[in-house]
Amino acid sequence: MREAPVAKPITESEAAEIARQLFGIEAAAHALAGEYDDNFRLREAGGSEFVLKIMHPDREREFVEMQCAVLQHLATTAGELPLPRVVPSLRGQLCVQTRVGDGSRRIVWLLTYLRGKTLAEFQPHTPELLEELGHFLGKLSSGLAGFSHPAAQRELKWDASRAAWIRDYLQYVEPLPRRMLAQRFLGLFETDVAPKLAGLRKSVVYGDANDYNVLVACGPGEGARIAGVIDFGDTHYGITVSELATAAAYAILGKKDALAAATAVLAGYCAEFSLTEDEIALIYPLVGARLAVSVVNSAHRKSLKPDDAYVTVSEAPAWEALERWARIFPRFANYAFRAACGLAPIAKAAAVESYLAKSDAASILEADLRTEPCVVLDLSVGSTFLGADFSSSETAKLSAAVAEELKRSGARVAVGRYDEARLLYNAPQFGASKNPTDERRTIHLGIDLFAEPGTPLRAPLAGVVHILANNAIPLDYGPLVILKHVTDTGEEFFTLYGHLTEKTLHELSIGQPVTRGQVFAHVGAVHENGGWPPHVHFQIILDLLDRGADFPGVARASEREIWKALSPDPNLLLQIPAERFPKPSPTVQQLRTRRKDLLGGSLSVSYAKPLNIVRGWKQFLYDETGRAYLDVYNNVPLVGHSHPRVAEAAQKQLALLNTNTRYLHENVLRYAERLTALLPDPLKVCHFVNSGSEANELAIRMARAKTGSDDIIVLEHAYHGHTNTLIDVSPYKFDGPGGGGRKPWVHVAPIADDYRGPYRRGEKNLGEKYAAHVGEIVETLRKQGRRATYLAETLPSVAGQIAFPPNYLAEAYRHVRAAGGVCIADEVQVGFGRLGTHFWGFETQGVVPDIVVFGKPIGNAFPLAAVVTTPEIARVFANGMEFFSTFGGNPVSCAVGLAVLDVVRDEKLQENAKKVGDYWLAGLAELQKRYELIGDIRGSGLFLGLDLVRNRETREPATAQATHIVNRLRERGILAGTDGPHHNVIKLRPPLIFTETDADVFNTTLDAILAEDAAQP
Ligand SMILES: Cc1ncc(COP(=O)(O)O)c(C=O)c1O
Repeated sequence: MREAPVAKPITESEAAEIARQLFGIEAAAHALAGEYDDNFRLREAGGSEFVLKIMHPDREREFVEMQCAVLQHLATTAGELPLPRVVPSLRGQLCVQTRVGDGSRRIVWLLTYLRGKTLAEFQPHTPELLEELGHFLGKLSSGLAGFSHPAAQRELKWDASRAAWIRDYLQYVEPLPRRMLAQRFLGLFETDVAPKLAGLRKSVVYGDANDYNVLVACGPGEGARIAGVIDFGDTHYGITVSELATAAAYAILGKKDALAAATAVLAGYCAEFSLTEDEIALIYPLVGARLAVSVVNSAHRKSLKPDDAYVTVSEAPAWEALERWARIFPRFANYAFRAACGLAPIAKAAAVESYLAKSDAASILEADLRTEPCVVLDLSVGSTFLGADFSSSETAKLSAAVAEELKRSGARVAVGRYDEARLLYNAPQFGASKNPTDERRTIHLGIDLFAEPGTPLRAPLAGVVHILANNAIPLDYGPLVILKHVTDTGEEFFTLYGHLTEKTLHELSIGQPVTRGQVFAHVGAVHENGGWPPHVHFQIILDLLDRGADFPGVARASEREIWKALSPDPNLLLQIPAERFPKPSPTVQQLRTRRKDLLGGSLSVSYAKPLNIVRGWKQFLYDETGRAYLDVYNNVPLVGHSHPRVAEAAQKQLALLNTNTRYLHENVLRYAERLTALLPDPLKVCHFVNSGSEANELAIRMARAKTGSDDIIVLEHAYHGHTNTLIDVSPYKFDGPGGGGRKPWVHVAPIADDYRGPYRRGEKNLGEKYAAHVGEIVETLRKQGRRATYLAETLPSVAGQIAFPPNYLAEAYRHVRAAGGVCIADEVQVGFGRLGTHFWGFETQGVVPDIVVFGKPIGNAFPLAAVVTTPEIARVFANGMEFFSTFGGNPVSCAVGLAVLDVVRDEKLQENAKKVGDYWLAGLAELQKRYELIGDIRGSGLFLGLDLVRNRETREPATAQATHIVNRLRERGILAGTDGPHHNVIKLRPPLIFTETDADVFNTTLDAILAEDAAQP
């Protein structure tokens, strides 16, 4: 047919009239973009929506009838799928021929309208969404099975089996490298697909699940769902597997990990509709061919109509995807696809593995590890063997640690485990990018046998020398040998030996036979082996993927199962007894199950996909696979996770003495001196305990001793701890789920929140106005002869990262003190320089509390807390009843407290908080200009809050969006949390060593997430 639009397009009013006359529908018509036909969206007054399709005059009726028939068929066979339904005309016809204004005869038909955004425009394409697309299409394929129509037998350039037509059009592709790329996939189609076409399953396929035909729906903060597919104009009889391959070709557009995207679609598809092994084997070439058809088609049409934007709409992403696809090794893709369909990734794996298990392999080392004692090391991410400090994986330190372990155990050989996630691989070749949260290669695919340099190595099985190489870049394999073997049933496999002597390479030649048990190589020394502690890395390989000496020994965790299939456990040959191995680490699922039974249900776990965090270092946390997460949430590790000075202080003191404070010991005094030196007069008397809750409890006892009244004034939404009294003084708890309500002795004042509270930014005397409410409570109590304790955080965190307006605390304290009350500052969240401008929160308000409470960051995650008060209150409190906390102020916690203060001072962390906080705020302010969702940004230094709103006028909290954003940040490798009474405030409180680069990583990631559909107001 002619590929040209009709000369005179149908007008919207004409379309509305046609709809009324033929279908009895009274609706306004809006023209939709289209290539050939005139399509209109109709909306009835009642809200029902339709698509009126007025076909190009050259369209054959049969073609439209086929589309009607296929949609009607699917309405019965796949009724649960949201698909357009054909609406019959007033006369009961599915398509009607009619004469239109320009005199042409047109076929007209009507479909129900599907609401949704196109997949192309929707963000993000999560693996879950792509998998759901697969499910959808799998059900579609099931629904189409058995459907036939004469018009489906058509010649269509998008028919996957006809991709070879592009050969004559490659000439239109410029520049040459692109032409060659398209040619390469054409070649693959011709060699791998074309010869199999005759034997392939065929059926009617929809054939057009491109990203502009797939619709997605999602409410604020919700997970996305597939809302349908549209445009059945490419329906044809073709190879069944093309349905999936076409969808996969478009699903990979714009994806950094194209294979993961394609695999996600396939996994969903296969769960609904089985593909055969032969069909799966063609997915890679078919995806490439589809993209090649797309780009060649664009190039050709561009040559005909250079200015037609429609032609080039998906050209750039298609080229990019094709380039990415070309970088994936076809057999590797096939293994991933097989796994996604529940098949063994590598068909021959079972045969080879059973051969290996029963083969009488020779011992590689002189010491036969089947019987000889050995020590199996734990080099995993969470292993205490290496600790958190990355410098411990520097090779000299690693060598020393391994040697020490050998000495300690008395074994001759130390073993490094297979399938172990390690953080040893920090060189660029392991995938470390500029973004520290990007996935790196961490999964070890061989077994390491640590032994003296020069130790002879024997071939476990007979084979021939297949590869000799020296991968000499630092931390690579160094000298390397790969032997080729064949099983008794003729299956080929390989064994790899890395980190050998250079001499080994000179003594062997390619093709040389090696007999079982023959010494063929030697363990290299550090200077020649890539710089590692002397060992042999021994790995089995079932398919070299044409990579030769570049075959990886370490894989990405997201591809773990495929690489494990490619490189099965070398212990099949070594046969080190199972009891020598440390217990395997539990999986996330196992931990969740055990936790459910062992820990109370009231203890929740963060994120929709909970994390198993096994290591913390500086501002990063690491899960069991070695994935790094930038921690912007934890204010407890003030000076960074696992700070060596803090750890050393604790370890040294714990190894010497830890006991209670009833003996004289200098640590507690030194710490009290250092802490009080940082505090204004008259805050000079310390009491040490173990947690913020304990400290607040104690502070309240002291205050009550002074006031003689139980009454306590707290702020709305406040949280002060988990004990009985503290729940009673925490509106966040007693007014929250499971709470028992306010006790008569508790008085709640409005929180001085100048964004959401009754008095807002811009008004005058805000501090005074909010403080007046405290004054009123104080006055009511005074009239009853009662005196109040005023307990407030200096910058409330749980209430939503609130910074009080100027003068608030000064005025509130003035009211309280005027009536003989006591003021407690809960400094648990914000103290120790976090605010940048001041060391303590109360200083930002220009006040000196009567009692100040410290917790959380004070010990950098070591259980330490303190209450510091005036000599006067301390004297009143010492009324004869003794104060004693068994662990409070012990030598270890005071050593830790001292180390924390040292680090804050020496590393100038308050200054850093100010500098980085200002920088971060400036970046966030830029985001606020672009995203309506960010209603307010507040806080200072590294204590910031983003108040998310659906509407900046009404300030309606965007709770669902905030939850979505935090979960998406977690998926992107950043840990944040929500807070505030509406859980709509993203709280940012990273360790004070946070850098400007970290702030950039956060802001860039947040920027991308804020653009996503579920994050819209
Ligand atoms: C402001 C405030 N005070 C006190 C506490 C209680 O501290 P802990 O959990 O150490 O008992 C918390 C804990 O989150 C807090 O946020």
